[in-house]
Amino acid sequence: MSNLHTRTLAETDPLIHGAIINETRRQNEGLELIASENFVSEAVLQAAGSVFTNKYAEGYPGKRYYGGCEFTDVVESTAISRAKELFGADHANVQPHSGSQANMAVFLTALQYGDTILGMDLSHGGHLTHGHPLNFSGKSYKTVFYGVKREDETLDYEQMERLAQEHRPRLIICGASAYPRTIDFERIASIARGVGALLMADIAHIAGLVATGIHPSPVPHCDFVTTTTHKTLRGPRSGLILCREQYAKDIDRNVFPGIQGGPLVHIIAAKAVAFHEALQPEFREYQEQIVRNARALAGEMSELGHRIVSGGTDNHLFMIDVFAGGLTGRDAEKALEAAHITVNKNTIPFDSNPPMKASGIRIGTPAITTRGMKEAQMRQVAHIIDRVLRAPQDESVRQQTIAEVKELTAQFPLYANRWQ
Ligand SMILES: Cc1ncc(COP(=O)(O)O)c(C=O)c1O
Repeated sequence: MSNLHTRTLAETDPLIHGAIINETRRQNEGLELIASENFVSEAVLQAAGSVFTNKYAEGYPGKRYYGGCEFTDVVESTAISRAKELFGADHANVQPHSGSQANMAVFLTALQYGDTILGMDLSHGGHLTHGHPLNFSGKSYKTVFYGVKREDETLDYEQMERLAQEHRPRLIICGASAYPRTIDFERIASIARGVGALLMADIAHIAGLVATGIHPSPVPHCDFVTTTTHKTLRGPRSGLILCREQYAKDIDRNVFPGIQGGPLVHIIAAKAVAFHEALQPEFREYQEQIVRNARALAGEMSELGHRIVSGGTDNHLFMIDVFAGGLTGRDAEKALEAAHITVNKNTIPFDSNPPMKASGIRIGTPAITTRGMKEAQMRQVAHIIDRVLRAPQDESVRQQTIAEVKELTAQFPLYANRWQ
């Protein structure tokens, strides 16, 4: 075996090794408030970094185009049965490399090119893959969008129904990237039934809440449910499709060979581990704490005078209208990042600013809850954020905040053995 094959990462590639160490330290010493991020367990990391990265396994368990898939089949079959158990679904496909690819496979199954889809407007909280003109979904299908109501910034089911009756979409897409309220999947299913449309729920954000029964499940009401596995579900970066039995074969065919080649077996292994973790009672406690933390943080920000979009949150995220306080989302994101607090700028409903500036920031609690933070820390975090937003250019505030964030995060260490 060559020398190259047995050297450590630090010996072979100090540049990349250094970046990994720096990133681990950044994650450890900063406040991670991006609603779509989380910190996976050591067990998930271990599976994701396993020798299954070497394996080609086109096909499905028991029906592969490659030899040597005995242990791969154990991994994939286990991931499938755990996903079905977790969500109570008829069928699961665990091969999508990402949430976007999960959505693409559903569209290929449910639609012909040129069909009409009805999805949530990106600027009201939807996702690019729900019909945005720059995305394959907007290029391949006719799109119609519903949104939220101006008066209370909650989903406008009546508008959705009107649009469904007027445009007769083949597929209705529900689910969101930036929507802080409970989604009434049952009501949407009745709208879909009323116009003979198929229904897909994209639960990328709320999958962990759905898996533990904290958010009502779309599974009994929808033809297809897609998700990412790396947000509240706390698995590796990847995707998952659940569907009714009648679509199982078509979904599988449209994932492979439809849009993907060989599955990422190491990531499927990591998904299986994450599903196992999600089936444990502690995972439900974790999800409950995520929601309590989001409520506490949003509540305290509101007390401190910030406008919270829709007035609060029912789930793991909320949005602050920073423009109401004189800042753009972009400037707020930058000021917070400089103080080691990571959020993302986000448009708010009926935004007067373009997406690259935006009027809001989106804040989520899955990652800091994984670290063990609770309501008391949320109150502290709210005061830290408030201080930065009130003095975004002030260097002494920035330095004081960095020190306080470091002190706070040190009480909740992350990946302690991985960054020395
Ligand atoms: C609702 C929703 N669907 C799909 C995706 C896409 O997932 P990925 O980034 O894995 O392609 C996201 C990601 O943010 C999302 O929020």
